[in-house]
Amino acid sequence: MSHTMVIFGASGDLTSRKLIPALYRQFCRGRLPTPTRIVGVSRSPFTSEQWREQLAQTTEKFVKDDFDLNAWNGFAEQIFYQAGDIENEQDFHRLAQVLQEVEAGQKTDRVYYLSTMPQLYAHAITQMGKAGLHVDTNGARRVVIEKPFGTDLQSAQKLNVEIHQTFREDQIYRIDHYLGKETVQNMLALRFGNTIFEPLWNRNYIDHVQITVAEEVKVGRRGGYYDKAGILRDMFQNHIFQLMMVTAMEAPVRYTGEFVRDEKVKVLQAIRPYKGGDFAQNGVRGQYVGYGEEEGIPDDSQTETFAVLKFYLDNWRWRGVPFYLRSGKAMSCRTTQIVIQFREPPHMLFGNEKTCKPDANRLVIQIQPAEGMQLHFQSKVPDSDMKLRLSELDFRFDSSGKELPDAYQRLLLDALLGDPGLFARSDEVEQAWRIIDPIIAAWKSPAAPTLHPYEPGLWGPIQSSEWMEEQGRSWFDVCPII
Ligand code: BG6
Repeated sequence: MSHTMVIFGASGDLTSRKLIPALYRQFCRGRLPTPTRIVGVSRSPFTSEQWREQLAQTTEKFVKDDFDLNAWNGFAEQIFYQAGDIENEQDFHRLAQVLQEVEAGQKTDRVYYLSTMPQLYAHAITQMGKAGLHVDTNGARRVVIEKPFGTDLQSAQKLNVEIHQTFREDQIYRIDHYLGKETVQNMLALRFGNTIFEPLWNRNYIDHVQITVAEEVKVGRRGGYYDKAGILRDMFQNHIFQLMMVTAMEAPVRYTGEFVRDEKVKVLQAIRPYKGGDFAQNGVRGQYVGYGEEEGIPDDSQTETFAVLKFYLDNWRWRGVPFYLRSGKAMSCRTTQIVIQFREPPHMLFGNEKTCKPDANRLVIQIQPAEGMQLHFQSKVPDSDMKLRLSELDFRFDSSGKELPDAYQRLLLDALLGDPGLFARSDEVEQAWRIIDPIIAAWKSPAAPTLHPYEPGLWGPIQSSEWMEEQGRSWFDVCPII
């Protein structure tokens, strides 16, 4: 079957850094359907030849040792470029003609990838509609939309309405690249491909769950965007909620798109809404020292670069189990981890070698880097009088030492092949905003919790650890061993 991927925003960073390398790697593995053509669209006046040359250089830089000139030349034969402006209706009609020519009238499944500025999404889609690019009588037509999908509930709903005027929901693929990560998908394998975890995966055995996405990097050159977004929009509304959904969801009836997405959205629906004093008590806000001096950021910015939120899910499985979600820039190391902290044994017979009180079991799921998981359990200190110590079963996702495939590899292939399971549905995105919006509003109000400064290179502000201690718990602040 013939396929085409049309990339709007072809001259942008995402295209050269992620999209083309991902497609190239899938081509080298023989996984792209044949033929798969790539048509780039942006305002820059390149020829196809010039764009190919440029992409050859950037791809070599990003895929490093995986670059093979012969393979690249084979891949590049199917790359085309068409200059076009999203503001100009004629350009879309011209694009429609070019696509017909490139596809030689063959029945073709097409994916339109919007890698433009988010303000242009609705406009680009309207123009596609006017040029008939959505009509799927000669093959499927799908549109992939990058994050951010709206900046709040209202704008996300508006965007959904606008897109739905041209594309049906089943044609819309909203990207959250966290769902393309191997280890995020492995959460489903771990939970629903085994019998030993699921019986314990509930309020009877689990004390609490910690989900941490820590980044060592600062905001860098993205200050202009970041200062308006803040960490709740940039990380919580999408990526961290996705991690929470795969951790907390029920088993779907079958592993197909709609069944999985139905179960995921129920998790968000079960989140107990914040009210009254909750907004201040159930979170911690922080900003790293020096943030206000970075490019594009006002000195007196009150935007948080670190946040903790505590949620309860009001359902049979999780009632009473806190989910602690935490993320920050300029933290001590890069780690994304889900910690399932089990309850203590009901009656302690033995002491720990150091503290007299054994630690409860813990499952640490390391999403990245050092992808894998560790099960912490007690064992006897050899030659002691029944003193215990914490031991660990350590599983590495890929022991070959090779890097795992980039999330975009999976997602682009799924979009081409028409599998929406790893993409966000409209109700999911809107529900996520419904939860985050009131928190953002409260954190901008005079009643907002204090914005605590923290030195780069730590686990956020000290108040985050103190707050956790007040909860009678402590963060699992351990950098992964790579
Ligand atoms: C992006 C955010 O969506 O995800 C960035 O905008 C963040 O701020 C990035 O750094 C993290 O992605 P990853 O895959 O590096 O964990």
